[in-house]
Amino acid sequence: MDTIHVNIANNPYSIYLGDSIYHEFQQILEQHYPFGQIAIITSKPIFNLHGNKILKQLESKYQVLTLFVPDGEGAKSYEQLQALHTQLLENKFERSGLILAFGGGVIGDLAGFTAATFLRGINFIQVPTTLLAQVDSSIGGKVGINHPMGKNLVGAFKQPLFVFCDTSVLQTLPDAEIRCGMGEVVKYGFVLNEQLFNYLQDNIEPALRKDRDILYKLVKISAAEKANIVMQDEKEKNLRMVLNFGHTFGHALEADFKFGEMKHGEAVILGMKCAMQYALDQNMLDNGIFHKGIDLLNRIPIQYDPAMIELPKLVERMTIDKKVKDGRIRLVLSPDIGKYRFEFADDLHALEKAFRILV
Ligand SMILES: NC(=O)c1ccc[n+]([C@@H]2O[C@H](COP(=O)([O-])OP(=O)(O)OC[C@H]3O[C@@H](n4cnc5c(N)ncnc54)[C@H](O)[C@@H]3O)[C@@H](O)[C@H]2O)c1
Ligand SMILES: [Zn+2]
Repeated sequence: MDTIHVNIANNPYSIYLGDSIYHEFQQILEQHYPFGQIAIITSKPIFNLHGNKILKQLESKYQVLTLFVPDGEGAKSYEQLQALHTQLLENKFERSGLILAFGGGVIGDLAGFTAATFLRGINFIQVPTTLLAQVDSSIGGKVGINHPMGKNLVGAFKQPLFVFCDTSVLQTLPDAEIRCGMGEVVKYGFVLNEQLFNYLQDNIEPALRKDRDILYKLVKISAAEKANIVMQDEKEKNLRMVLNFGHTFGHALEADFKFGEMKHGEAVILGMKCAMQYALDQNMLDNGIFHKGIDLLNRIPIQYDPAMIELPKLVERMTIDKKVKDGRIRLVLSPDIGKYRFEFADDLHALEKAFRILV
């Protein structure tokens, strides 16, 4: 087992990481939380696949309550938050109790926000089961729900007691979810870690086919990159924005209703292509690096219909993204592999031109 330390000022914590380490879960949990109430927040599909791995270890020692929420993004709602609060109250859950988020990013965000708000805040731990959650959302303490007016608009910073990450569960993930998480992995390579980028160049196909050793290595490197950024900028004042590479373009694609079914990470992969095109057009990127980047992104197959792309509408969507600062769109670009720079994009035509790489 590997351990990554997230050394942030008031809430330092560890990420325990391994391939097939669930048998060690109870022992680790006892170190942090020796006895008491535990509410597992999960969804039926995830629990049916993997729930027994944790449940049977907990039942002998803790008072366990299992709370199910519907599968999918819709669960990040005021209604579900209230339903969870109600169930905790009905079951006389106390301030000393612990919430265990068992699932992907949706469960982690919702369960974490439930923990942040119940009785003014109780402890929680993250047990991520998707690639995206293992490399990104379970680390860093951003938790929240969606508002009818937009995604992730209601939330808090709430760091977990620890993160327990077993990559063996990734074997049951559908291919689209692997691609989705891979978008974030590739992102770390582009803006933070040239070695990771090179490793992806050599291994992207077996990684997408869920080769266990390769996936483990990718999760370990990515989780460390995310932890490193969070340590330097816990509350996203500045540096943490680097994690938005590909996201400003990607969010516009994701938000477009015709793209309804496009997954976040898949939109980010397309968004990174646009960011590379934008940097090339602005003479901030060498042609050779541009092709190197695009070649890697093209090896992750994303299904979409180019006829559905309406360029002016996408640019308009970019202007209402959260990353707009003082009315200006702030982009993260990768001027070289493993490097980043922040750039205000005031020329909307240049943004529109960047989207053309997708049509
Ligand atoms: N808090 C953050 O910092 C942060 C960062 C990035 C994304 N997010 C959020 O994460 C969410 C997306 O997370 P996600 O991509 O994990 O999606 P998700 O949580 O919806 O999970 C995707 C699907 O995978 C299934 N699944 C989960 N684990 C499985 C397994 N081991 N085997 C088979 N199926 C499994 C789920 O049932 C679900 O249908 C979004 O809401 C996004 O806003 C948060
Ligand atoms: Zn993302």
